[in-house]
Amino acid sequence: MNEKIDINNIPKHIAIILDGNGRWAKKRNRPRIYGHRKGAFNIERICKYADSLGVKVLSIYCFSTENWHRPSDEVNYLMHLPIRYFMRYRNQIKDSNIKIVFSGRRDRISNKLNDLAKDIEDMTKNHQGITLNICFDYGSRDEIIRAIKKLNEAGEDIKNLNEETFSKYLDTANLGDVDLLIRTSGELRLSNFLLWQIAYAEFYFTDILWPDFDELELDKAIISYQNRNRRFGGIKEENK
Ligand code: IPE
Ligand code: IPE
Ligand code: MG
Repeated sequence: MNEKIDINNIPKHIAIILDGNGRWAKKRNRPRIYGHRKGAFNIERICKYADSLGVKVLSIYCFSTENWHRPSDEVNYLMHLPIRYFMRYRNQIKDSNIKIVFSGRRDRISNKLNDLAKDIEDMTKNHQGITLNICFDYGSRDEIIRAIKKLNEAGEDIKNLNEETFSKYLDTANLGDVDLLIRTSGELRLSNFLLWQIAYAEFYFTDILWPDFDELELDKAIISYQNRNRRFGGIKEENK
């Protein structure tokens, strides 16, 4: 097994289910929101590092359509966290090369967050670096249902519908399929994340809690990916 990153085989699209913020805080006898705050700052760190490696798209799961079931004070905190973050770092984001886009429902979040998301998307739309896809009030089943509604409204001919056309109606329309899916904190499930887009993704699960997931951990995930034999249903040359 290779132990070093092969810079010529970097996954184009990495998706991360960033899990374990609550447990990270609990281990320190702190409230769960302390873990969310720490976790939010880690996104920037990992995004910058992924960009430096040549990753093109980083999708991060920040709030699921099911996370509304949490206690209201935690939900409120999670709703305010991106507002605080983007207001504080707007200028830094403007001067960076990171392109930010959002996936998920737009009808249940506050106007303030909606406006800010649009502003950030617009402000970074010509940036040439990594695309950071922030999945917020995102659920894959919800995304698929919304895509069906959108294609119906657009008058698509269902009889001739194919996978390529359908993909264009998903929130991730321009982002392509996921190559590597990472989940932190030891949970072995997908929790409704990018179900369509991960059809041929390689999975990497680690016990590390999200706030502790650093550059070295991303290296490990990528090295693991690079040691996989991706066949896409075919047969590799050497096995023919
Ligand atoms: C992930 O951390 C962040 C969100 C789901 C918003 P959790 O809050 O799920 O942390 P754990 O799983 O309870 O440790
Ligand atoms: C998945 O984590 C959602 C996000 C990371 C935003 P959860 O902690 O909500 O998932 P479950 O409940 O353990 O499946
Ligand atoms: Mg969790």
